[in-house]
Formats: sequence, C-alpha cells, structure tokens
Amino acid sequence: VPKFDVEAYLSERKALIDRSLERYLKQSKRRPQTIVKAMRYGVLSGGKRLRPILTLASGELFGAEHKRLLPFACALELIHAYSLIHDDLPALDNDDLRRGEPATHKVFGEGMALLAGDALLTEAFQLMTRADAIRSLKPGLVLELIRDISQAAGANGLVGGQAVDLEAEGKEANVAAVEDIHARKTGALICVSAKIGARIGGATRQELRRVERYGGYLGLAFQIADDIMDAAGHEYEGRAGSEEKKATYPSVVGLGAARKRARELLDRCLKELEPFGKNADPLRAIARFIVERAL
Ligand code: IPE
Ligand code: IPE
Ligand code: MG
Ligand code: MG
Repeated sequence: VPKFDVEAYLSERKALIDRSLERYLKQSKRRPQTIVKAMRYGVLSGGKRLRPILTLASGELFGAEHKRLLPFACALELIHAYSLIHDDLPALDNDDLRRGEPATHKVFGEGMALLAGDALLTEAFQLMTRADAIRSLKPGLVLELIRDISQAAGANGLVGGQAVDLEAEGKEANVAAVEDIHARKTGALICVSAKIGARIGGATRQELRRVERYGGYLGLAFQIADDIMDAAGHEYEGRAGSEEKKATYPSVVGLGAARKRARELLDRCLKELEPFGKNADPLRAIARFIVERAL
C-alpha cells in the first residue's frame, strides 16, 4: 500500500493557495499603494497556509472542487494574516519579528499595520461574495459560510480569545482558562476552516459535526503544540520565542503534561476521522504534522 505523501500534499495545496492569494491581493490603481503593499507583506511573506489547506482537505473529503473552495479558503488566510499583524503590534504582543522577518508594523509603521489588518479582515468578507466565488453555490449556503466564519472571527471566537489572552497576562491561570483562551483565539478559526470545506462539499449534518469535533481538537492541539515549541526553546519558524508572561499550557501544567495533552488531542482527532476511511488521510496527516513536530 503506498503511504500517503504528506509533504507533497501540503506543498501542492500551499502552491495552489499562494497563487490564488497573489491574484486576490493584486495591486490596483483604485487603491492607495502603501496600504496594498502592507496587506501583501502581511499575507505573502511566508506562512504555512494551514487554515486554507484544511478547507481544501475537508472539502476534498466530500468531493468539492477546488474552485469552489479556494475563495473561502483564501478568505480565511486573509483573516489569519490580519490577526497576526494586529497580534504583533505593541499594544498586544509587541513582537518585532514574524516568520523570521520584521513584523508588518516594523516595516510600515504601527498606523499602517493597523489599517492593513482592518483592510484584510474587511476584504476577506468581500472575497466571499465575489461573483466567481459564489456562482456555483446556493445563496443559502454562502450565507451559512459567512455566518460561520464571522462567528469564528468575532468576539465569540478569535477576537474574544485575544481579549481574554490580554486580560490573563501576568495573572495566575488554570488549565480550564487556558483551554478556553486557546479554543477561542486559535481553535475557532482552525475549526471553522475544516467545517466550511465540509459544508461546501455537501456533508450531512452528522458528518459536519464530526468534522467540527476534529477541528475543535485540532485547534486546541495546534496552540498547545505552538506553546510547547516556544517553551522548549525551539528556534522554529524564525522565532526564538519566549512568552513567559502568557497563560500557556506549558506554563500552567509543565512541558510533560502539555505534551501528553497534545498527544491525547491528536488521538481524538484521528478517532473522529475513522468512519471516513482512507479518504481522510490528508486530514489525518495534517493533524499528525501539527502535533508531532512538538513532541
Ligand atoms: C501562528 O499561526 C499563530 C498562532 C495561532 C499560534 P501559524 O503557525 O499558522 O502561522 P503561519 O501563518 O504559518 O506563520
Ligand atoms: C496568536 O497567538 C493568535 C492570534 C493571532 C489570533 P500567539 O500570540 O500565541 O501566537 P504567536 O506566538 O504570536 O505566533
Ligand atoms: Mg498573542
Ligand atoms: Mg503573539
């Protein structure tokens, strides 16, 4: 039996997404130059494209064509990029580096970075309503997708998680509080990335719930893995991370227990995928890739 080639899968999907992002972020005469440059910098200077890859993988599982998935997949990456640009600002994490390169505000200034994030978030929603994005989708489905994504990005999800993360700085935190922060600030967008692929692919309600559970476990595992790599002092993706003020899994329960929790969440992800058989190999491989790099 040929083994599923995860490296090839990820790099092919990433190339597809990068081509679309490049197209959506084209400089145009109607828009001022500097804001577009800052937006492009925040999106196109690296990144694994994990969220849009998840959308493609879960869409493929239910037989959705790439051209129906890509606009929504790319919109999720624009939202992710906005969240990172804002996250690095002095008012939040005050990080000078992102992906080993100067953060957007270090290149374009804080005001322009703030605006680039605003524009990316807004234009993500515009992208989801472009004629070529919605032509082959039922209007009701488009509305469900937009509702799911706005829920995940807003005060129930990513922004709410960033807010709790901010308030938790420098305070004692317990495991439940840390998991709540993670599930919101990181988990929500990851989970919805998988969910909308399944929606576009026409998954049944039951299948959708299964993909959502997979995405929920994965989102949590992703942030725990990220914090493990930070805490273990790995120099990875150009970050020599130290977030000692932060409420993280390793800072609350220690590295060993954090690794154990990450492994447990990976097992749960894999269990949810069992009924889908071999067709879910990409989703399995993505989950393994995310967790195993931190173990
Ligand atoms: C980094 O996310 C921020 C977190 C949510 C922990 P990614 O690791 O997916 O960032 P890029 O886009 O690949 O750089
Ligand atoms: C980033 O979380 C999460 C969002 C931007 C929503 P972190 O602040 O923990 O991630 P890094 O370390 O900056 O990538
Ligand atoms: Mg942060
Ligand atoms: Mg940060």
